[in-house]
Amino acid sequence: MTKKRFTIHDSRLTIYDLVRPILFKMPPETAHELAIRFLESGYADKIIQNQNFTSFEFGEIEAFGLKFKNPVGVAAGFDKNGVAAKRLAALGFGFVEVGTTTFHPQPGNPKPRLFRLPQDKALINRAGFNNDGTRVVVERLKRDRPPCVLGMNIGKSKIVPNEEAVEDYQKSFDLVREIADYIVVNVSSPNTPHLRELQKADALFDLLSVLQKRNRELSANKSLTPLLVKIAPDLSEAEIEAVVGVAQDLKLAGIVATNTTVGRENLKTSKTEIERIGAGGLSGAPLKNRSTEIIEKIFRHSGGKLPIIGVGGIFTGGDAFEKIAAGATLVQLYTGFVYQGFTVARDINASLAEIFRQRGLKTLEAAVGINHE
Ligand SMILES: Cc1cc2nc3c(=O)[nH]c(=O)nc-3n(C[C@H](O)[C@H](O)[C@H](O)COP(=O)(O)O)c2cc1C
Repeated sequence: MTKKRFTIHDSRLTIYDLVRPILFKMPPETAHELAIRFLESGYADKIIQNQNFTSFEFGEIEAFGLKFKNPVGVAAGFDKNGVAAKRLAALGFGFVEVGTTTFHPQPGNPKPRLFRLPQDKALINRAGFNNDGTRVVVERLKRDRPPCVLGMNIGKSKIVPNEEAVEDYQKSFDLVREIADYIVVNVSSPNTPHLRELQKADALFDLLSVLQKRNRELSANKSLTPLLVKIAPDLSEAEIEAVVGVAQDLKLAGIVATNTTVGRENLKTSKTEIERIGAGGLSGAPLKNRSTEIIEKIFRHSGGKLPIIGVGGIFTGGDAFEKIAAGATLVQLYTGFVYQGFTVARDINASLAEIFRQRGLKTLEAAVGINHE
């Protein structure tokens, strides 16, 4: 692929090389807010030359009844409030997952709550679902929809106890259903107390069966809105098997694997620094293999029948290919965006196409789960 196909001027290619050191001097959340403001503003349009998001050289990808221009998406958490989705599509992402939103607007945990681990190409965050509330975000996206597949990721409001979680999720579900191409139920953030307990088979079945029932009621004779569940990388094999069972019983559209980890293994960053940072979810390079292993397990336990969105430590086309070969149909990233910059989706799509050519793969489908053959 030549650079001419890219959506950004070649002369801009090194801009992030210049911008990143400046952004990295700022507190991480300030840098993130600046990036979001930039994407929200009209200035972004002046830099992004044309508004056609990148097509994957090997054709459209079909997953759970939706068509994706390319397999690389923005992971939840990056655009929690749906203010930048349109420009993220213009940067070459095939889909954007907005959220996590909660029914009740909430401020999240006290700052600082986002930390860089540059030696590890990683982040630790304990954001705690800071967001404007599902209703406001949905209204915003109704006015300004991104020109790509739009996922909506919903979570539990912090003020609502787990016993009332189902009702709280359903209120968000009803709202996001109006605009979402697919919906993700997030039960795997480590930063909302007790949220991960909802991943246990019984609790998960109770929650997802209500949402899927609601989905059927609201869809009447039309097809259901694809409903997915996002899981943690810290689940045991038995727990993964149980989640796959629930997903298959309830005919979910797929699984998003994975969220951040509470583990702190194999880090180059000093122990003192890690202790200073404290609690939160670790993302980026140290999560990569763990999340790929989870994808492999989901693929195996589902006999390859459950679509998987693979996420965790993707920086390059090679990283994305590892996830696809393990069983993912689509991939997403957050931390890779922070470290690689605004051209990351375009670069990954280009390099992924190169890998496909080298391996003689003709479609994305042909590559999904090839590690298992
Ligand atoms: C600062 C930050 C905030 C996040 N917020 C959310 C969130 O609100 N909902 C969610 O499902 N995942 C959230 N995530 C997790 C990411 O969507 C993703 O699953 C995880 O970071 C692994 O991917 P990565 O290594 O490409 O970052 C967040 C991650 C980061 C770094």
